[in-house]
Amino acid sequence: MNNPTSVWDAGDYATHGRFVADHGATILAILDAQPGERILDVGCGDGALTARIAAAGADVHGIDASPELVAAARERGVDAEVVDAAEFRGDGYDAVFSNAALHWMLDPAPVAAALAGALAPGGRLVVEFGGFGNIAAIRTALAAVMHSHGYPDADPGQYYPTAQQYTEVLEAAGFTDIDALIVPRQTLLPGTMSDWLHTFRCGFLAAHDVPLDEREVIIAETQERLVPALYDPAGDRWYADYVRLRVTARVGARPQGRPARP
Ligand code: BEZ
Repeated sequence: MNNPTSVWDAGDYATHGRFVADHGATILAILDAQPGERILDVGCGDGALTARIAAAGADVHGIDASPELVAAARERGVDAEVVDAAEFRGDGYDAVFSNAALHWMLDPAPVAAALAGALAPGGRLVVEFGGFGNIAAIRTALAAVMHSHGYPDADPGQYYPTAQQYTEVLEAAGFTDIDALIVPRQTLLPGTMSDWLHTFRCGFLAAHDVPLDEREVIIAETQERLVPALYDPAGDRWYADYVRLRVTARVGARPQGRPARP
């Protein structure tokens, strides 16, 4: 099911969200895509990392629920399709990869089942997304400001599990060899906190029917509240308090003679 807070403007994302793909370098290295491998990129967004997987010689297919971002991915030559991950029914993939996307999918069990079904026996899952405690300072400040504007129970609309919680989800879907690790990663932003809020929280504000002029006020007040926690006055820099959950796992038996990776 679509997440109503997941709303994207491809141009804005290209300017203020590029760093998300840049921080995907570690998980991309863990994936270690090989020429000829069939790889599924779940939540491929505008295809920045999908294109890098293709450049390694892999046969990569991207899926994303956002038609705007899939259009942007296709423009860069990536094979991509608009579909909710939980509804995806392809199979036979050597690996399922995902960066900074699974936290938008609020019901993890059907997503994990679809990813397990997409993999060939012995196929690997290599994913990273928001983990427990992700953007806690940002969420707290935004909730406080929303509350002060008369939106008392504004739901953030995201899923940030602990390593143990997500391990249980994957086990129930039939995954084995699960390695799940919480990685706190304070992240330098390319612009201001206001820019980040515009790019990543516009869907959230729209889902709560906040009028356009009031959104600007809420964003400005939220940035103001975050100065002590996430602003570096010496360098005039803003940070986001990201926490990642980095996960590798396998499904079924590894084909004979094939080495274990990663
Ligand atoms: C994240 O990558 O953790 C994230 C991105 C946008 C909004 C919230 C979280």
